[in-house]
Amino acid sequence: MRANLLDVVTSALAAHTAVPALSTYDFTTAQAVVEASERAGRPVILLVPPKAAAGTGGRRLVTALRALADDAATPVCVQLDHAVDLDLIEHAVAAGADAVLADGSALPAAANAAFVARARELVGPGVVVEAELGSLPGDEDAAMTSEAGGMTDPGEVPGFLDGSGADLLAVAVGNVHGHYRGTPRLHWSRLEQICEAAERTPLVLHGASGIPETMLVRAPLAGIGKININTELRSAVFAAVADRIEQRRHQGLSLWALLEDWTEAVGEFTTLAHRLTTAEARSRNS
Ligand code: 13P
Repeated sequence: MRANLLDVVTSALAAHTAVPALSTYDFTTAQAVVEASERAGRPVILLVPPKAAAGTGGRRLVTALRALADDAATPVCVQLDHAVDLDLIEHAVAAGADAVLADGSALPAAANAAFVARARELVGPGVVVEAELGSLPGDEDAAMTSEAGGMTDPGEVPGFLDGSGADLLAVAVGNVHGHYRGTPRLHWSRLEQICEAAERTPLVLHGASGIPETMLVRAPLAGIGKININTELRSAVFAAVADRIEQRRHQGLSLWALLEDWTEAVGEFTTLAHRLTTAEARSRNS
């Protein structure tokens, strides 16, 4: 069912949980994410990477994901991820995206806020706008290993939120896109300061692939209401498909069978993501 991303994330946080946001480059993956979320009875966010949202094919994909989200039994949001240009934002919203990440994180804070404010004005009040302050290194599409980048400065947060009009704030606190070099280290005290400075604005953790379970389950307590995952989901699909591809070759090149393996891998991963993002609430209630 159609849902407002900010409402979904705010309710999750009130229950000490977060909402998983999974990158979907294609309809098969999105469908498997939605079906597993329906089975879990949990909301989910379908992230559309900018590459997948671009051009005529991208517009059609967003429209198809919109229909999928509206038809789902549980709340599903469609968000354009990491958009650095306003044209793409405009096209994705026209095609049915109900949230966007207006990503000005490569710019100085004031220019970043101005970019997000322009996106905010362009999409109007019905569309949820996320911003990113601080820069997250790495390339999630390619899963490159990365070093730590420029972390979010808690002192800049109130002015940035006022100036940008962002509904959610993605933070850089030691998280990276793609694989981590060594053990990930999240800076919890910085995150707590950001959470306090952001007041009621929910925070978003990008680059969740590779972050240990013990850290992910703690995130909602530090104001993280949305957890973005891409690389690990893709790895799960590649592992499932690579294992089977030779075997399937001898079974009549069934694309359907391959898609079944793909769907199963995405479903299992989505179920795990729901388990981790609700773990803290379950431990409190047990
Ligand atoms: P990972 O690829 O590191 O999981 O990051 C995903 C992400 O942050 C999507 O916005």
